[in-house]
Amino acid sequence: MKARSVKKTLAVLHASQLVTLAGPKRPRVGAELCDLAIIPDGGMLVSDGVIVATGPSGEIEKQVPGDAEVVDATGRVVLPGFVDAHAHPVFAGNRVHEFEMRARGASYEEIAAGGGGIRSTVRKTRAATEDQLLAQAIKHAKWFIRCGTTTVEAKSGYGLSVEDEIKILRVVRRLNQETPVEFVPTFLGAHAIPEEFQSAPDRYVSLIVDEMLPRIAEERLAEFCDVFCERGYFDLATSRKVLSAARDCGMGMRMHADQLTNGGGAELAAELGATTADHLEQTEAPGIAAMKRAGVQPVLLPGSVYSLGKTRYPRAREMIEAGLAVVIATDFNPGSSPTPSMQMVLSLAATQMKMAPAECVTAATINAAYSLTRGDRIGSLEAGKLANFVLHDCEDYRELAYYFGVPQTHSVYAGGERISW
Ligand code: NIG
Ligand code: FE
Repeated sequence: MKARSVKKTLAVLHASQLVTLAGPKRPRVGAELCDLAIIPDGGMLVSDGVIVATGPSGEIEKQVPGDAEVVDATGRVVLPGFVDAHAHPVFAGNRVHEFEMRARGASYEEIAAGGGGIRSTVRKTRAATEDQLLAQAIKHAKWFIRCGTTTVEAKSGYGLSVEDEIKILRVVRRLNQETPVEFVPTFLGAHAIPEEFQSAPDRYVSLIVDEMLPRIAEERLAEFCDVFCERGYFDLATSRKVLSAARDCGMGMRMHADQLTNGGGAELAAELGATTADHLEQTEAPGIAAMKRAGVQPVLLPGSVYSLGKTRYPRAREMIEAGLAVVIATDFNPGSSPTPSMQMVLSLAATQMKMAPAECVTAATINAAYSLTRGDRIGSLEAGKLANFVLHDCEDYRELAYYFGVPQTHSVYAGGERISW
């Protein structure tokens, strides 16, 4: 985890709203999702990169040492940095030609069946060097920062060979060293069956289990393992096999579940005790009940539904009513969701999934942090937590979801330091 050592004391004063999300030390459920613990005319004291105190500006002002740097947040909302709990930020090239094909009427599934889709990004990513991938990923990291995001989950999955998957995860490690964003590495070798294994998909699953997972665990290159559980990709049996092997290697489990078809992915995530089940566009009541019983966090990705021109969004309201600790994320990737913007995701969650703006903010910060096992360190503005926070150019946090298409990020801080990238 990234904790930069900053010696000076920093005081943020007069935020129109200091949106702290202070509350119970666990993911928020039900009505708790609406409780943002906002301090009007709020202030915050930061020392050594860690939050020392929050409160009304009048109270915080009394504690500010003479040599402290003061940030005047008048007229601005201050929020924790967004935590993007589902993203694929390391890849080569883009798929703008497929975007045009979809605009002209082709579907994501048709394009994939014709040899495009994930496999076209795999071809480009295999051909790229580690340095080339890093250069492009740094460009993506700058976009995340500009969107007010300070933590990003980073999946592999565009290599699909031992060396190419490891190459991507090494890029994620270097991103952590060379950018101020914290990237959380996830191994997604089970993203698609690569071309050379088309006639023997079982052999590819064996390669994942017998060679990729042990190497990646040994080199500590991933905290989580993910599987694209979907018709034509990895079925329930192979998903179970890969994720169980990952669990045996000490990795946490995440899943791309029920995105295009309802194949029982949510139920499998529950059976395995996965940390998250992601997408869930096609998940129905039994899958929601299973996730509730097992404490699986749903990670909803409305950007991918939007960008693919589809209309069926996940049933966020039913999930919230069932007591699930909902997370929203960008799914940033070149195929289905080319956006790094959590603000756009907030807008989509509000308009298409009927989540209240406060629910959106909780799902994009503290709940997301817990889904990455970092809820004790980030995701809220509370004493003892890392000072990852963002000033936004609005006076009411609801404006973040309301105005879309206009960037509202004013300035971004990670570990108490302003990121000026
Ligand atoms: O989350 N569904 C699988 N993976 C990505 C898409 C990847 C791609 O199209 O390149 C997703 O939507
Ligand atoms: Fe994804």
